[in-house]
Amino acid sequence: MRILITGGAGFIGSNLVLHWLQHHPQDHIFNLDALTYAGNLLNLKEVEGNSNYHFLHADLRQTDVVKKIFIEHKIEGVLHLAAESHVDRSINGPAEFIETNILGTFHLLEAARAYWGNSPDPRFHHVSTDEVFGSLGPKGTFHEATPYAPNSPYSASKASSDHLVRAYHYTYGLNVVTTNCSNNYGPFQFPEKLIPLLIHNCLTERSLPIYGDGSNIRDWLYVEDHCRALDLIFHKGRTGECYNIGGSNEWRNLDVAHLICDLLDKELGRSGEASFRQLITFVKDRPGHDQRYAIDPQKMLRELKWSPDSDFQTGLLQTIRWYLNNQAWVEQVTSGSYREYYRQQYNL
Ligand code: NAD
Ligand code: DAU
Repeated sequence: MRILITGGAGFIGSNLVLHWLQHHPQDHIFNLDALTYAGNLLNLKEVEGNSNYHFLHADLRQTDVVKKIFIEHKIEGVLHLAAESHVDRSINGPAEFIETNILGTFHLLEAARAYWGNSPDPRFHHVSTDEVFGSLGPKGTFHEATPYAPNSPYSASKASSDHLVRAYHYTYGLNVVTTNCSNNYGPFQFPEKLIPLLIHNCLTERSLPIYGDGSNIRDWLYVEDHCRALDLIFHKGRTGECYNIGGSNEWRNLDVAHLICDLLDKELGRSGEASFRQLITFVKDRPGHDQRYAIDPQKMLRELKWSPDSDFQTGLLQTIRWYLNNQAWVEQVTSGSYREYYRQQYNL
């Protein structure tokens, strides 16, 4: 198959491109990415020479360019990951989230519809988030029929894109599937998100900012488990359906910080006063901060026999070792515009 992966130079996208070329070596992957601050071709170094991998430097907002890509490369399926993905950035400046996540998705849907016409076969897989469901109290989980209640400009823009995808199925018969996943962690995650930020700050002896009192809960999933789920759903998911993907792995943010500090202390032989826990600093809360996310993974288990392979301690240790061994990558992605944003964000 000739598959278009959007956002393939980002965190989940690059893990997915590597996963796909390993598990489906006969497929051709066309990676459409605008290379924003979050996209990095270093992530894909090991497949650069692979004749079935093709990088297309393009922006989803360029409607004619996107349409041409479908025609020129005879695209037979789409996995749509490209997005502005960081909640704090959406609070500071929502415009790009509206443009890329809503309008970008619209342009992609239009390009798919124009090229595929009424054919029921080519699949459009939209990769979305559990944040569209809003915030949970102490009990309960998000399931596929949970009403949408997004609370940040990021989640509102993703919710909007989910609705467009749904509408293209019901109105135009596009063969769509939407997945709503919980928080991912693993290699190549940009160090603005909680886990890589904490690891990076430990390694550079910076404070570890915990929003509010650190009691907010996220349901963490190792990125390769997400990629495995996407692969299964792209091939076997039922058309027009949504699937929730989660780790059944709820952690309070403060406990995540403690675990990272303890694992790093062990790796680097630190303890007592020198423990990384000393760097933990409580900072002003994120506006509209969702209290708790948790996924009900029953549909994935029942229909596709999917469940996560990685346990959190092992996945986190693997991730920590990856960051320890890839300091040059961290240095490269945190230079330039990111440093500027970070300086402003934390008054450094
Ligand atoms: P990311 O920010 O790491 O990567 C996004 C990629 O999209 C980058 O390579 C960037 O260059 C590209 N991009 C941005 N705007 C673009 C545009 N206008 N045109 C073309 N390319 C553009 O994101 P991520 O964390 O890998 O998330 C990927 C997808 O998965 C997103 O849609 C996100 O909403 C969703 N998701 C993420 C998580 C998570 O925990 N990270 C969880 C659930 C769902
Ligand atoms: O749930 C899926 C979503 O997970 C994805 O759709 C998003 O793209 C992804 O960014 C992520 O959103 P979160 O807002 O949950 O992730 P983030 O890593 O930004 O924050 C995780 C938790 O940690 C959240 O409760 C806020 C808190 N936090 C975050 C940062 C960056 C801190 O306490 N301190 C920090 O410095």
